[in-house]
Amino acid sequence: MAILEIQHLSHVFPNGTIALDDVNLSVESGEFIVIAGANGSGKTVLLRHMNGLLSPTSGKVLLEGVPITKDLNHARRKIGLIFQNSDNQIVGQIVSEDVAFGPENLNLPREQVDKLVQETLEAVGLSELASEQTYTLSGGQKKRLAVAGVLAMRPQIIAFDEPFVALDYEGVVQVLSQIVALHKKGHTIILVTHDLDKVLAHANRLIIMEKGRIVKDGDPGWLIDEVEKYGIKKPYGGRRVGTMTWLK
Ligand SMILES: Nc1ncnc2c1ncn2[C@@H]1O[C@H](COP(=O)(O)OP(=O)(O)OP(=O)(O)O)[C@@H](O)[C@H]1O
Ligand SMILES: [Mg+2]
Repeated sequence: MAILEIQHLSHVFPNGTIALDDVNLSVESGEFIVIAGANGSGKTVLLRHMNGLLSPTSGKVLLEGVPITKDLNHARRKIGLIFQNSDNQIVGQIVSEDVAFGPENLNLPREQVDKLVQETLEAVGLSELASEQTYTLSGGQKKRLAVAGVLAMRPQIIAFDEPFVALDYEGVVQVLSQIVALHKKGHTIILVTHDLDKVLAHANRLIIMEKGRIVKDGDPGWLIDEVEKYGIKKPYGGRRVGTMTWLK
């Protein structure tokens, strides 16, 4: 059974914009899916439906066969979303408190929360800033913190919306290696990006969106030659998909 199933999902905003138009998607546990598409093609709106931040105009989202609307808290623990704009996602005043926020809300014992926070900050390279005020962080550091906040919850499915934007080279490598490590541990990864060269080698599936629809869905090796038709940059030199990673 698919871990996540999206059926005939459409979303029309009050101003009449059709952001999603009959989207169907079935995600198996353990997949690593990259979603690409031009600006405004519906990628972010689609992610926001995955844990019920938006409610469909029509259609539905099922988590392990059950509509997410049945228990939104459960859906939000199972599916972690890392937004495009990290500022929206930072809730604590101090870096370590921000990461602790999610686990604390699960009522985990203090030592377990501390351990999770420490491990997670290390994983994203923010240990040294643990006691800093969050507003003092740079854009890239905020992105890492937003990633940490979601990772601390250890959600089964993790969806990243443009995780590499605003990160420096080291930041991209750190966040990407964290994502790949989570995938190896068995987490299901869904990643929206315009930068196929950074990550596509790790994906088993590439989805291309256009005007609120999924127009291609399949093996990255098969689809890579078609991406430019949909306004997505193909990495220079026609490199093979297997080399499309910033990890050494
Ligand atoms: N709150 C809103 N009200 C009205 N229209 C919206 C709203 N949010 C998004 N849209 C529209 O929905 C469509 C899909 O937007 P979405 O943010 O999903 O695009 P995207 O694929 O993530 O683009 P980008 O690559 O720029 O992040 C766009 O036409 C956008 O203008
Ligand atoms: Mg977007």
